[in-house]
Order: sequence, then C-alpha cells, then structure tokens
Amino acid sequence: MLVHHVTPDVTVLNDCLPVPGLGFLPVNAFVLHAAEPVVVDTGVGLPGRGFLDALATAVAPEDVRWIWLTHPDRDHTGAPHDLLEAAPRALVVTTFLGMGIMSTERPLPPDRVRIVNPGERLDVGDRTLAAFRPPLFDNPATVGFLDTGSGACFSSDCCGAPLPAVEDASVPEIGDSSVRDAQLLWAAVDSPWVHLVNQDAYLATIRPLRDADPPLILSSHLPPARDRSRDFFDTLALAPMAPAFTGPDQEALTTLLKSFEPAAP
Ligand SMILES: [Fe+2]
Ligand SMILES: [Fe+2]
Repeated sequence: MLVHHVTPDVTVLNDCLPVPGLGFLPVNAFVLHAAEPVVVDTGVGLPGRGFLDALATAVAPEDVRWIWLTHPDRDHTGAPHDLLEAAPRALVVTTFLGMGIMSTERPLPPDRVRIVNPGERLDVGDRTLAAFRPPLFDNPATVGFLDTGSGACFSSDCCGAPLPAVEDASVPEIGDSSVRDAQLLWAAVDSPWVHLVNQDAYLATIRPLRDADPPLILSSHLPPARDRSRDFFDTLALAPMAPAFTGPDQEALTTLLKSFEPAAP
C-alpha cells in the first residue's frame, strides 16, 4: 500500500486492483486526523496487503476512535476485526444493515458498533461528520460523509473510475485531465440500476452535494480530487444516459485464459 498525506487532515492509504479489460481500480482507505481519529474503510481482504502497517505510519492504531465502514463490500472490509483489536477504544460506524451483512462472514461485536444512518451526524471531537447516501452505490448499507471541519467529501464507491495504468491509480492527487468517460463506465459497472431511475428523483440526490461544492472529493476508487466537485457531480447527472455495461462473456474468458498459457516450445 502507498501512503499519501493529502492535507493536514487527511491521509490516503492507497491500494490498487487490476480489472481485466477496464484498467486499474484504486482502492483507498483514509485516515481523518480529527481530535478523535477516524479510519475510513479498511482495505481489501486479500492476504499480504499490509493495511495495519500502512495505517501505523499515519496514526497510532491504539489512538483510532472510529472505523467508518462506508459499506461492507470486500474491497472495504479487509481489516475491521484486526483494527478493533489494535484500537481498543474504537467503534465501527455502520448501519444496522451493515452489521447484518458483516454477520454473514464474521459478526462485528455489537458493543463495538455505532449506528449512523444517512442524515445523521457523528461528533468526532473537533468537528462533526454529516452522513449521507451517495447518489451512486452498490451496497444498500452505503453511507458516506461530509467532514464539516475540512469540507472534504468521503463518497465511498461514488465518483470512482478505473484508470489506464497502475501509476494513474496510485498518484496522491488526480490531475486536471477529464476522467468523465471512466467515471461513467464505473457508474454503469458499480450501479447498473442507474439506467432505471426516475431522472428527477435521481438528480435530487446529487443537488445537495453539488450545492455544498466540497473542495476535496475522497472516493474509495479514485485518487483524491481537489476542486473538481461541480465537474464530478455534473458527470454523475449523466450516468442514467450513459451506455450500460455487460461484462466479458465465456468466450472472452477462454481467450483470456489462453493468453496466460506458456507458448509451446
Ligand atoms: Fe462497493
Ligand atoms: Fe468499493
């Protein structure tokens, strides 16, 4: 994992997954250096990713007070139990549904959970975190938040995009170039229901965020983006009209597997 200090308030713990045919998907967890430190998501569940070691370079694990699980998908739930052990005062922030989904693999200890639903706020000492349901999501337990201290928007899967190369997915901040097409592709991959929505109802979920104009968008699946929120939310508004995504078929998989076979001597 790479560790990027984006602002004095925010450290990014950056991992990356290759997605054949699409590119490289950043997988970010974050540390919000609030008076009561917050870890946002816990990396992928694959062995050897070094989440706790990377985290320890940003904050002493025993000081962590909150583990905000934006949603219990496996690219976000690599280490909640290890972190709960290392951080004896920490609580996992999730929803009742998130607790339920986690219980299908390894239950969270109920006395180590703080339920925060969209529309509610969490006090972390020197600021409050305003929870919201991102316009796009792939899990019904998804809850992002706006940090009322720094204005940063933690958007979970929303605003993500697969990028052409590992180097693109692991930069400390995304550059000025457009990622609109890649974000629309990701919207179709991650939230295929977006093609079925009532347009007005969908746009109403974007408007409050667009009006808030957060100076920093921190997506789980895009490098940190500064001063891009209007651009990003305008892109989200186009998602219902973007092409739908259908993954590779069996023939494509067979071709892919053949490409891995060593050439005949
Ligand atoms: Fe997800
Ligand atoms: Fe994700």
